[in-house]
Amino acid sequence: MNTETDLSRIGISLPKNLLDKFDEILKYRGYSSRSEGIRDAIRNYITYYQWMSDVRGERQGVITMVYDHEQRGLLQSLTEVQHEYMDTIQASLHSHVTHEKCLEVILLRGDGKELKNIAERLMSQKGVESVKLTTIPVGE
Ligand code: NI
Repeated sequence: MNTETDLSRIGISLPKNLLDKFDEILKYRGYSSRSEGIRDAIRNYITYYQWMSDVRGERQGVITMVYDHEQRGLLQSLTEVQHEYMDTIQASLHSHVTHEKCLEVILLRGDGKELKNIAERLMSQKGVESVKLTTIPVGE
């Protein structure tokens, strides 16, 4: 069985604006089909997850997060998560991108696993558009 050529067909439901944005990027990047773009996006998602899993040991890191502050209850959840990890989170910077959109940069230091947990907790909140974690190892 060749895992790359055995194809499975799936049907997914997406908000229209999400699909429109995706199609726009596919067009810009010259993809021949939407399926190819989705396959690539899924591969990237998996690679990112695996890379995140390798974040171990004492680390200094930055989380860059974009979210819609008009999403009901989101601001409170984000604040609660950040307070829960106050020993790891050193500082944060908030910038208002548009009337609805906010950009937040969070500086962290601690165990890699914990940094990853924080990123995943933030990512799972409804209204959070994107979360990126970048880390460097601390030590000699
Ligand atoms: Ni804002």
